[in-house]
Amino acid sequence: MAPIKRIGVITSGGDCGGLNAVIKGVARQAFSEGIESVVIPNGYAGLYNLVDFDEVVLLSAERISKIEASLAGSEAGHSRVKISKIDDPQKYERIKKGLKKFGIEALIISGGDDTGSVVVDLSAQDIPCVHVPKTMDLDLQPYSVGGDSAINRIATFTRDLKTTGMSHNRVVVIEVFGRYVGHTAFRGGVGAEADCILIPEIPVDFDVVYENMKSTYFNRILRSDVKAGTYIIVVAEGLKNASGEMLYDESAGVDAFGHKKLAGAGKYVRQQLEKRLKSDPDVPKFMKETGMLVPGIYVIPEVREVTPGHLVRSGGSYAYDVNFGYRAGAAAVLLLVAGKTGNTVVDLIGKKIEYVSTAEAIKRREVDLTEIALFEGLGICFGRKPEKFACELSEVKGRIARRL
Ligand code: F6P
Repeated sequence: MAPIKRIGVITSGGDCGGLNAVIKGVARQAFSEGIESVVIPNGYAGLYNLVDFDEVVLLSAERISKIEASLAGSEAGHSRVKISKIDDPQKYERIKKGLKKFGIEALIISGGDDTGSVVVDLSAQDIPCVHVPKTMDLDLQPYSVGGDSAINRIATFTRDLKTTGMSHNRVVVIEVFGRYVGHTAFRGGVGAEADCILIPEIPVDFDVVYENMKSTYFNRILRSDVKAGTYIIVVAEGLKNASGEMLYDESAGVDAFGHKKLAGAGKYVRQQLEKRLKSDPDVPKFMKETGMLVPGIYVIPEVREVTPGHLVRSGGSYAYDVNFGYRAGAAAVLLLVAGKTGNTVVDLIGKKIEYVSTAEAIKRREVDLTEIALFEGLGICFGRKPEKFACELSEVKGRIARRL
């Protein structure tokens, strides 16, 4: 393959933390390899329409200095467009014409599973491309930029909500993004010392949640000298009930990738708890004992759901994502130069660039339930009867691969 002279950078799917570091990592590494890099704006929508553009933005040293790596979101913009779904039999020819028009010989594309499936697609169409894993959901096989920032923000919001929960003696249910997996709810919830964390990997038994809430939260208030307490539940949006059905609101519709928009899991959890609080004969006694009971006005503890929504992937990028984004962006350029098209960057450790085929990288990764059992033993409720953590010991021989 002749040396690449110009590459295009695309970010696609949902935005998140660390993407601007990916863009800067790509641009700076490309520059030191003598390659120009340009932005293809707004994800695959921009790639499809590139042929109609008059110009593209060159990521010169001056232009990239205007990009703030510690800000979330992407300077390259996003869309939820999947090329294979475009109803145009000439779509790949159109894309190739657009790339030719601007002398773009290869692509670096940062995105999640849907984005990655297009990388597989484009590689099969002989368009050289390398994938940088990105999704706050953390559902790819390798670490994906944006995950740590989302976890930190979930932990911060959850911890912050304790003050208002505590002041009103409310049960607070926080519904967070994550699609069909619970990585960010789990890690963010643990980070904030939530009492209960509900994730899609564990179909929830609401009787278990209720009993845990009752014993933890009721005792917390009863033991408090000022009769104050809260109970914090972090819920992943893709939650399932005990029969394995997803608990989202059907009326939310679908996104441009064709995925159901998930919303409503928090509301469902609130309703399940309220139903049990209303019918539990112990509740009036508890309300009386804590001095909270006001007949006709305040007869059960309040349960509120809060949905931070897009806030968990907005605002700032945490330092880990800036670090990972920079090195994954740079590694992607080096993979392209080495002709490793159709692959996903895993990481750069020392001088070793780890990569995997994109088809493999985008296989869904779920939360490992063996680790959940450990946290159940440490007192967090996961909406099922706690399971015993069975540990295994393993001595590491040789060099320990470090990521930080
Ligand atoms: O995939 C990332 C994600 O943030 C999911 O966690 C969430 O369900 C979805 O994107 C929301 O997407 P949109 O911004 O298109 O509403």
